[in-house]
Order: sequence, then structure tokens, then C-alpha cells
Amino acid sequence: MTSQLTQEQLMIQSMAREFSRKVIAGTAAERDRTKEFPAENLRQMGELGLMGMMVPIDYDGSGADTVSYVLALSEIAYSCASTAVVMSVHNSIVCESLLRFGSEDQKQRYLKPLARGDIIGAFALTEPHAGSDPVSQSTTAVADGDHYVLNGSKRFTTTGKNAGLIIVTAKTDEAKRHEGISAFLVEQGSPGLVVGNIEDKMGLCASDTADLHFEDCRVPAENLLGREGQGFKIAMKALDGGRIGIAAQSVGVAQAALDASVRYTKQRTQFGQSISKFQGLRWMIADMATEVEAARQLMFSAAAMKDRGEKFTQQASMAKLFASEMVNRVTARALQIHGGYGFTKDYPVERFYRDARVFTIYEGTSEIQRVVISNNIFKDKRRPVQGA
Ligand code: CAA
Repeated sequence: MTSQLTQEQLMIQSMAREFSRKVIAGTAAERDRTKEFPAENLRQMGELGLMGMMVPIDYDGSGADTVSYVLALSEIAYSCASTAVVMSVHNSIVCESLLRFGSEDQKQRYLKPLARGDIIGAFALTEPHAGSDPVSQSTTAVADGDHYVLNGSKRFTTTGKNAGLIIVTAKTDEAKRHEGISAFLVEQGSPGLVVGNIEDKMGLCASDTADLHFEDCRVPAENLLGREGQGFKIAMKALDGGRIGIAAQSVGVAQAALDASVRYTKQRTQFGQSISKFQGLRWMIADMATEVEAARQLMFSAAAMKDRGEKFTQQASMAKLFASEMVNRVTARALQIHGGYGFTKDYPVERFYRDARVFTIYEGTSEIQRVVISNNIFKDKRRPVQGA
């Protein structure tokens, strides 16, 4: 696909690569240790147009396509997966949902500052007892005059503490199951919104993952996103795009692990020669490179389908499933190639290995991706039945 990229896509990739390697890479290990939120990186990314990539220029975005977006996101993930996940949720879930379902007033008030990177977006769907099954969520939103009153708790919200705006789903009608869920735009600092526990994680340490508590949190009725009862569909559509983003993060981290492994094998000498001469390691590198490339092509294919306006749910889940499993295999091999040094913090592969672990879990586990893929296969009426 690289040869088919347009000049504009290649320029965006090269700009993101330069910024990532010159500005972000040098401090990523330190950020992993201190858990400091990458606010300054994100501010500069806003100036470069990386925080509203698929938002039209009229709403202060870059007006780029999804292929450009995944190229840029992979480049950011190459240096710092913590920065990349914030970029991913912000662009693919929050900005895209506002663009697709927001009123003109909501776009003016929220999409513009989001697209400029003045504020960061978060998405609160998951609850302590509703992860893979978001329909069973129990946060409620009750209409009260010109407000909705939200009560309940959300869990594992990426950027929950540092976001300026959070898309929150809540039940507006218990009897209606998924059609009883609505989505709301909640500003950080709203009375009744309490940021709770911040998770102490094995990876993505510089990105905050927060509990959010809603205690009689009054949200203006004009902050309902889409229509009442549309929240589940808004979330599902957002996750379709989000899953392409996780594929891009996976490709970026895996490429970094592969490059680090090639570098290491060239430098390391054992048994009187460079270990890059050993066929066992060369074949490992060959397999890693092949897997990264396969994931990249699935990522491009899903992104291009989205850009062409085709239904891309299945392709996004395939890209997410394969790429997130792939990066776990590739980072594990990278660590193995580095031997004892790979197990230390002197080399970056230890961080890559920890960061990648959640990719098969968040924005839908690998098991959920298989549910989505198989559901789409079985309901596709155009698919010929074998033997028919
Ligand atoms: N696009 C549009 N509509 C969709 C859709 C999609 N991709 N997927 C489902 N729908 C619609 C269906 O068409 C159906 O609508 P109708 O009744 O009108 O036909 C409705 O939604 C319900 O669909 P299902 O019956 O398939 O719903 P379900 O309850 O069986 O769930 C699921 C399906 C795929 C398992 C879904 O629940 C799911 O994706 N679960 C995983 C959730 C997830 O990814 N959570 C991660 C949260 S975010 C995160 O990780 C942290 C962060 O900060 C980003």
C-alpha cells in the first residue's frame, strides 16, 4: 500500500514521524516511570493538526482522511504508546462522534476546541460491572426540566482525569435495553462529576485511566449527543473507528520493537560474531517483519473502506484483532532477542512489551472482536452458502 499513498498522506506521515522521533521519543521512558501525562506533547500535536485529523477545516480540524490518520497515529505510537492512546480516543472516538452526531451548536462549542487540541476528549462507556456488555450498564440519566441528572460510576476511562470533555453514556429508559441508552457531553469540573481512582497499570503508564463518579451531576439538555436512545449506536460506531486506531497503535509499537531488535542483533556479539548472523534470530526477525506488514495492510484496508464510505465494522474488528495479537507476539520476541537485557529498563523493548499487553483488551477484547466478525459473516446475505 505504501506505493499507493498520496503525496499528502506521505507528507503527514513524514511530519508525524519527525515530531515523534525528535520530540516524543526522548522522554517516553521517563514518562513511563513518572506517569506524567504528556500534556506538552499533546499541546504541540494540536498545533501540528494531529488532534483533529479527520475533522473538516471549517471546524478547525485538518480535514485529513483516515489513512493519513492511521499513518500519523502509528508514528506517534512508535515512540510513546501512552501519548498515542490519548490521541486515538480523542480523534477516533470523541471528535468523530461529535462530527457524526453533534448539533451545530455542539460542534461550535466542543468540536472546535477539541480539534485544535485546546481540550482533550474522553469516552466513558465501561462500568465496574459492564465491560464487554455495555448494554447492562447502570448509570442513569433522568430528565429534570432543561437538564438531565446523571448518577452512577464509569471505570477504565482513558484520559478521564485530564480530559476537558467526556462523552458519557447512561440509561434514559431502563425498559428499552440498548435503545434506552443515551450519550451526553459532560464538561470536566461539572458539579457532581468526581474523578475517582486512577489505575496503577502495567503499561501505558503516562496515560491516566480513571474511575468517574456521577453524583446528581446536572448536564444541560442541549448536551445530549444525538437523540435520546441513540447512545449505544453512537458508542458502537465510535468503537468501529476506535478499533482501527488500536490497530494503528499496534503497528506503531510493533515496528518500534522490530527496529530495536534489528539494531540489537547487529550490535550484539556472541560466539565470536554478530548475533545477526545466526539463522535462528534472522528467521525470528523475518517472521516479525511479515506479521507487522500483514497487520499494516489490514489497518490500511479498514481505513480505506471507511474513507470510501463503505461499512467497515468487520474490517475494523479484523484489523484490531490481528494487529493487537500480533504486537503481543512481536514484542515478546523482541524481548527474547534482547536476552537478559530485554528484561531490564536499559532497553525500550521492556516498555513496548508492557504497553502492548492491553491492546487485546481495550476497545473490545479479542474475544469480542471475534463475536463482531462472526456476527457479520453470518448475517451477510451476499455470502454464498457452500454447496448451494
Ligand atoms: N454500528 C452500528 N450499529 C451497531 C453496531 C455498529 N458497529 N454494532 C451493533 N449495532 C447495533 C445493532 O444493529 C443493533 O441495533 P438494532 O436493534 O437496531 O438492530 C444494536 O446495536 C444492538 O446490537 P447487538 O444486538 O449486536 O448488541 P449486543 O448487546 O449483542 O453487543 C457487542 C454487541 C459487539 C458485543 C458490543 O456490546 C460490544 O462491542 N462490546 C464491547 C464493548 C467495548 O468495546 N468496550 C470497550 C469500551 S472503551 C475502552 O476500552 C476504554 C476507552 O477509554 C476507550
